[in-house]
Amino acid sequence: MASVKETSEWAPKDIDLSRPAVARMYDYLLGGAHNFAVDRAAADQAIAALPFLRAVAHANRHFLRRVVQFFAAEGVDQFLDLGSGIPTVGNVHEVAQATNAGARTVYVDVDPVAVAHARAVLCDDPTSEAILADLRHPRGVFEDPAVRRLIDWKRPVAVLMVAVLHFVPDEDDPYGVVAAYREQMAPGSYLALSHASRDDQPEDMDEAVDQAVRAYDDTGTGLVFRTTGQLAELLDGFVSVEPGIVPVPHWRPEPPGESANEGPWRHGLAAVGHVTARMPRGETRGASPRTRNTGLWPPNSRLSRQAEPPVGRPTGVPAGHLQPTLRSDTSASRDHHDH
Ligand SMILES: C[S@@+](CC[C@H](N)C(=O)[O-])C[C@H]1O[C@@H](n2cnc3c(N)ncnc32)[C@H](O)[C@@H]1O
Repeated sequence: MASVKETSEWAPKDIDLSRPAVARMYDYLLGGAHNFAVDRAAADQAIAALPFLRAVAHANRHFLRRVVQFFAAEGVDQFLDLGSGIPTVGNVHEVAQATNAGARTVYVDVDPVAVAHARAVLCDDPTSEAILADLRHPRGVFEDPAVRRLIDWKRPVAVLMVAVLHFVPDEDDPYGVVAAYREQMAPGSYLALSHASRDDQPEDMDEAVDQAVRAYDDTGTGLVFRTTGQLAELLDGFVSVEPGIVPVPHWRPEPPGESANEGPWRHGLAAVGHVTARMPRGETRGASPRTRNTGLWPPNSRLSRQAEPPVGRPTGVPAGHLQPTLRSDTSASRDHHDH
């Protein structure tokens, strides 16, 4: 357990050092320096159970880079990075600006260390800002002055929810939250997701994965796994962009054909959705040749998983039951999150 007296110049004064924070644990996994003993102890507990966790974190950052490059190449020049984390190598604004010098980015995180450090990194950049906000309250994000200044919702925007929705339990209606962002996004916009999943996890790993999950118990958010079918539900109303919902390293690997083939399940799942028109929830669109999407979720061989029961897995939502009450009324759902 960390000493509560432990502190650092870069840390905001009022942070709680009595328990680990997911942002600082992730920073430690990536080899960063913005973490405390309590974070390192929790992350080490997870690494002891799953020694490949650092590689998982790095593979997720590689996905983030590839997907931002893809969006920038598609002409998107505004980015909303929800659950952005503590800045590290290859931040979104740097990757986007390498393709489009005028690209604008707003970083959003609930963690004060992540936001303070992002503000320090961005101090000379008028086209990027970091805000302290909770993605579960979309209206609060939309109305933040930095978001109003830098994001024009009438034009295409890339919304990133990379390695964050597994910290949003079903009680907080992640399905309604994602829908609220989608309804704000103009045609041409994109959503990128990566998410912890136990799909394809060998059964002999059950105990180790459970042990790693317990390392997150004290963070206050926990960790929720979701299936391919549940990601498809999160992406309801978006058009699928190839290759669909796939293990993180398999999302458009570079160079083409190269990907992590040893235990891809370890990395969780990644997907990109495209907004091609403003559309009521629950409808499915046809394919767009520009993005070579398939128009269906999931668009690949994982389709059958939608009906697959998550046997013995703590996936949160029982198979075939996707919170129809919360999800059938978007405005009510949004109110639910914003009050
Ligand atoms: C594992 S890190 C991912 C960071 C970055 N997106 C990446 O993939 O490299 C998850 C981040 O999400 C943030 N987070 C968790 N719940 C959040 C919420 N409800 N709203 C905003 N940020 C959240 C955490 O503080 C943490 O910084």
